[in-house]
Amino acid sequence: MDRMDHDKQVAILRELLRQLDSKENVDAGVMYKNPTSVYCNPEIASQEWEVLFKNHPQLIGLSADLPEIGSFITTDDFGVPVLATRDGDGRFRAFLNACRHRGARVAAEPRGSSRRFICPFHNWTYGGDGKLLGIPQPEHFGAVDLACRGLLELPAEEKYGLLFVHPQLDGQLDVDEVLGELAPEIAQWQFGEDMVYQGESLMEKRLNWKLANDTFGETYHFAKLHKNTLGQVFYGDVLHYEPFDRNHRFVIATRGIDRMRELPEEKWNMLRGTSPLYFIFPNIQLAFGETSISLIKIYPHPNGPGRSITRVGHYATRQALDVAHALGEDHERLNPDDLYNSGYSETPYDAPQAFSLAAQFEIFDSTIEQEDYLMGEYQQRAAENGTLDHVVFGRNEPALHHYHRNFREALGMPPLEIYKGD
Ligand code: FES
Ligand SMILES: [Fe+2]
Repeated sequence: MDRMDHDKQVAILRELLRQLDSKENVDAGVMYKNPTSVYCNPEIASQEWEVLFKNHPQLIGLSADLPEIGSFITTDDFGVPVLATRDGDGRFRAFLNACRHRGARVAAEPRGSSRRFICPFHNWTYGGDGKLLGIPQPEHFGAVDLACRGLLELPAEEKYGLLFVHPQLDGQLDVDEVLGELAPEIAQWQFGEDMVYQGESLMEKRLNWKLANDTFGETYHFAKLHKNTLGQVFYGDVLHYEPFDRNHRFVIATRGIDRMRELPEEKWNMLRGTSPLYFIFPNIQLAFGETSISLIKIYPHPNGPGRSITRVGHYATRQALDVAHALGEDHERLNPDDLYNSGYSETPYDAPQAFSLAAQFEIFDSTIEQEDYLMGEYQQRAAENGTLDHVVFGRNEPALHHYHRNFREALGMPPLEIYKGD
């Protein structure tokens, strides 16, 4: 997967190498105070639920989540039960997951493949296109015009390998508008057809959903909190950061970046020396590895601001799986060296990166859950206590500035106050 504009890749790698050599970090040139009330105030929580979730486009997955005609996924994460399908024409569709008889859910599984959805209550049956195909005992029930009682359809758009839904029947959905200036770059990755779903982890934790987002917003903590885990693979305290409207690109250097020093620039490959992370406002992180993508979706908890739900979906490239297959290996144990030796990639790995795909996913999940979110749970407790009035964001934490600026703007809140070091 080497599909980002090569000049841009080189520029990003150069900047990260420059920071490593000069021991500098990204510098926003300003610090901010962030009131802790944003993490626990119930009024803010109900406002953000309305504005950013119930009435905002939602990324529910990647094209790889609906790999074939008949594939479906369901979600309840933003308050509206959704059944998303790939219909008989291969089109991505989304429906309210509620039977038009008396409202039971027609699909209960989180994902699967089925051309028909039979409501478990009285067996009204729907197609993948939402059409009501039949009802049992119409002679008892009464005459029903099937054409009038299909599943209610939600606005849905599949673009650049992303699946977006709007939770309102009459909602406005335009993926290019959601992505803004980031759209051309996401388009370049072309990861739609290339990825294969590998599994999902669910984390239900006692931290506000924005604290969960915040943990993805700086590399200041890498060599400290993650010194025995991700800190082995990534360099801390360097970051290439670029905002695109309300979204951003956040590129972290891996130890593999050192290999670039030995290679001519035309052979540089960003995925061999960095891990790019795209943030899509308000709650999505898309982390890229050389052979994988992890999609992190973060949601407020319906029971209040002190909890959140994170889903981490993992996807592998089809080519990497093919390499594993050709080597007669279980793809879960595919070692990055195999990729190098098979010609998939031109750059060998340094030893610390030589984890199998499954191990990479596991380390990724457990680091988030046991390290980042543990800090988030402490932060949440401090915020709820009410005595700690505010926290501070440093010059090396620009992603936090950007995210909270946009969050506050979306809710009509005043901008963050500048922190002068006192
Ligand atoms: S509620 Fe679905 S068939 Fe009755
Ligand atoms: Fe972290």
